[in-house]
Amino acid sequence: MVNVAVLVSGGGTNLQALIDAEHAGLFPNARIVLVLSSRAGVKALERAEEAGIPTTVIAKDDYPEDEARADAILAALEGAGAGLVVLAGYMSILPVRVCRAYAGRLINIHPALLPRHGGVGYYGLRVHKAVLEAGDAESGATVHFVDDRGVDSGEIIAQARVPVLPDDTPEALQARVLEVEHRIFPEAVARLTAKATQ
Ligand code: GRF
Repeated sequence: MVNVAVLVSGGGTNLQALIDAEHAGLFPNARIVLVLSSRAGVKALERAEEAGIPTTVIAKDDYPEDEARADAILAALEGAGAGLVVLAGYMSILPVRVCRAYAGRLINIHPALLPRHGGVGYYGLRVHKAVLEAGDAESGATVHFVDDRGVDSGEIIAQARVPVLPDDTPEALQARVLEVEHRIFPEAVARLTAKATQ
C-alpha cells in the first residue's frame, strides 16, 4: 500500500477528484493519508476533514526560512510514511531539499500543455491568459514529476488536450482544463501505484 500525501493551497477540486477516485476504488494500492496546506482556512482543508483525512498547515509566514520550512514539511511527510507526494494546486515553491528527498515520488499537475506556458509566474489564471494571448488552438493539462532543476521542468507523465474556443475567456478555458485535470490526475496516481503490493 502506498501512502499518499497531497499538498494544497486553495480550492482543492483536484484533491476532491483524488478523494472521490480513492473511494471509487480507482487506486486500490494507494490511500491518501495526509493533506498538507500552505495556507490555513482554505476549502481544500475542509474537503480533507470531511473525508476524515488528517491535515496540517505549513505556511511560509510561519516558516520564512527555507531550511526550517523544509524540516517541517519533511517531518510531516515522514510522519505520514508518504510514498508518493502529490502537488494539487500547491501554490508555494517546495524547498529543494524536499524535492530531492522525494525525487521520482513527487508529482504535480499544471493547467497547460508543458513545456508551453510553464515555469515561474505561470500559475492560476495567468496560465490561461498566456494561452489566449499566444493564440494557441489548444490547451490542456500536464501531470509531471517535480525535479530540483526548475519549476514545471520534470518528466511528463500524462497530458490531456482541450480546444481553445474563439470567444474564450481565461475563466472559461480554466473550467474546461480543470475537467480534464480531474480525470488525468487520479489516473496518474493509479498508474504510479499500480505495482505496489497490497
Ligand atoms: C489547478 O488548475 C492546478 O492545475 C493548478 O492549480 C489549480 C488548483 O485547483 N496547479 P484546485 O485547488 O485543485 O481546485
